[in-house]
Amino acid sequence: MSEQLKHDSITPYNTDASKKEQVAAMFDNIAGKYDFLNHFFSVGIDKKWRKKAIKELALDKPESILDVATGTGDFAFEAMRLKPTKMVGIDISDGMLNVGREKIKKRNLTEKMEFINADSEDLPFENNHFDAVTVSFGVRNFQNLLKGLKEINRVLKPEGKVVILEFSKPRKFPLKQAYFLYFKFIMPVVGKLVSKDKSAYAYLPQSVMAFPEGKDFENIMDKAGFNSVNIQPVTGGIASIYTGRK
Ligand SMILES: C[S@@+](CC[C@H](N)C(=O)[O-])C[C@H]1O[C@@H](n2cnc3c(N)ncnc32)[C@H](O)[C@@H]1O
Repeated sequence: MSEQLKHDSITPYNTDASKKEQVAAMFDNIAGKYDFLNHFFSVGIDKKWRKKAIKELALDKPESILDVATGTGDFAFEAMRLKPTKMVGIDISDGMLNVGREKIKKRNLTEKMEFINADSEDLPFENNHFDAVTVSFGVRNFQNLLKGLKEINRVLKPEGKVVILEFSKPRKFPLKQAYFLYFKFIMPVVGKLVSKDKSAYAYLPQSVMAFPEGKDFENIMDKAGFNSVNIQPVTGGIASIYTGRK
């Protein structure tokens, strides 16, 4: 059993259900509004981050890619620019996956893309299977971060690359102050109004605040077995791109 980290116990609803059950229920609840709120809250910057993160794989030219915690699939669709022959997305929320599956059909990508319900901490793939693994805004939600990262390492081929995009905390004035105000006060109120889930957009800042970032996250990636770990903060540190190799 992998070690539990402090952030692993941050949950959306604070009920007796496991973090995984609560997270899946929360994303099922907000699935219909997720894409809108995502781009609205980030004023579209998330699209730039996704592009930049996926460029990290350009030289590798991966043929098979796994997008973990794919949700409605935005990171997976961005990775399709790399022209892989196979892209698999996994997620524990069918609500989110169904939105993504509709996009696959609309974009005529059913031959190359498949979204399946699976848990990042127990991936239904054999060892050394994928050329690359991607995760955007997913690792923060894992029930057991180290276990999830070890699973990603297991299914990657030797020398395969992982690219992880996740929120982090800006450290410099005035972005730091503006970010905390926006994240703690504006986002939960607007998120509640639009998604009708009063916990979801309160959980978001809580989970970001408690999440190990920068060097702390690098240490966990090392423990999970990744080499050549690199950290690239984007937009003053609001988010960070982490890469590593098996
Ligand atoms: C914030 S969304 C990110 C979705 C997408 N990657 C994106 O960038 O828009 C987080 C996703 O992680 C999924 N998730 C959380 N824990 C998971 C786990 N243990 N295994 C698979 N997916 C998980 C949630 O269901 C949710 O769809």
